[in-house]
Amino acid sequence: MAQKVALVTGGMGGIGTAICKGLAQAGFKVATTYSTPGKHEGWLEKMRAEGFDIFAVQCDVTSFDSCVEAAGKIKQALGAVSVLVNNAGITKDGRFQKMDKTAWDAVMSTNLDSVFNVTRQVIDDMCELGFGRVINISSINGQKGQFGQTNYSAAKAGMHGFTMALAQEVAKKGVTVNTISPGYIATEMVMAVKEEVRNQIIAGIPVGRLGHPEEIAALVAFIASDAAGFMTGANVAMNGGQHTC
Ligand code: CAA
Ligand code: NAP
Repeated sequence: MAQKVALVTGGMGGIGTAICKGLAQAGFKVATTYSTPGKHEGWLEKMRAEGFDIFAVQCDVTSFDSCVEAAGKIKQALGAVSVLVNNAGITKDGRFQKMDKTAWDAVMSTNLDSVFNVTRQVIDDMCELGFGRVINISSINGQKGQFGQTNYSAAKAGMHGFTMALAQEVAKKGVTVNTISPGYIATEMVMAVKEEVRNQIIAGIPVGRLGHPEEIAALVAFIASDAAGFMTGANVAMNGGQHTC
């Protein structure tokens, strides 16, 4: 059987790298995006050294046109995408009363508009193939809200609204749409939080540690697999027991 193609946005970040490797190990041809010019060179070299052959294209997920162009290159190089992981994301934390429009817009467009911009490029092929997996990387903070994250919490909650609606539209075509809501995972995004605040957050995680990117990647690989065909419209939490709802 032909190898299926998986696309991971923001695949050169902490969680994205683990997802790219996990999907490659699960037998997918993997494509990823980067937005920072030049970022791909060292990363691809490192991946090759570890035995991973990953296709990378530059793409700004906040731009619909950039996503059209990137998706075209991926299809030409690898074939139609049947697994999409909407993983690219940013934070711009600050109390709402101090938050400016730039911080709001940047987080909404990178974390939520991106889901439309990228998914729109691949959904028709998934429906035609009769197999597809859209996996949206949301956050615990989209489920419970977080002090200093009105923008991020709104965008991440919005991702799951998208998941539940699209899941219903494409269910009969063999395409599933699911959300993963990770808790705090040890990547640069969390390391950017002030140490004192971060330590307080870690103290509130019942398991007593940050999550590992590989733990999220293992869940992505399951949802991407044939075995997960009956799972759609779901929001799966993996947060070290930090449930609040
Ligand atoms: N709950 C209640 N009050 C809080 C608070 C909290 N969690 N954090 C700060 N405050 C209060 C302070 O006690 C202080 O009160 P007083 O003025 O009465 O003394 C006031 O808020 C300080 O306000 P500032 O605007 O000056 O706050 P700051 O600049 O010191 O910090 C912040 C604000 C940057 C948002 C900081 O609180 C912070 O970093 N919070 C963590 C945000 C967070 O969890 N980000 C996650 C990033 S990783 C990620 O997002 C991945 C994922 O999906 C999990
Ligand atoms: P990260 O290491 O900072 O990676 C984020 C990735 O997003 C980077 O590869 C970055 O690529 C990409 N990106 C940012 N802006 C982009 C844009 N405009 N266009 C294209 N790509 C862009 O963060 P991470 O921790 O791995 O987070 C990955 C995802 O998991 C995010 O959606 C995040 O919100 C979510 N999440 C993280 C945690 C956590 O605790 N770490 C918890 C829950 C959810 P460039 O550098 O090339 O722009």
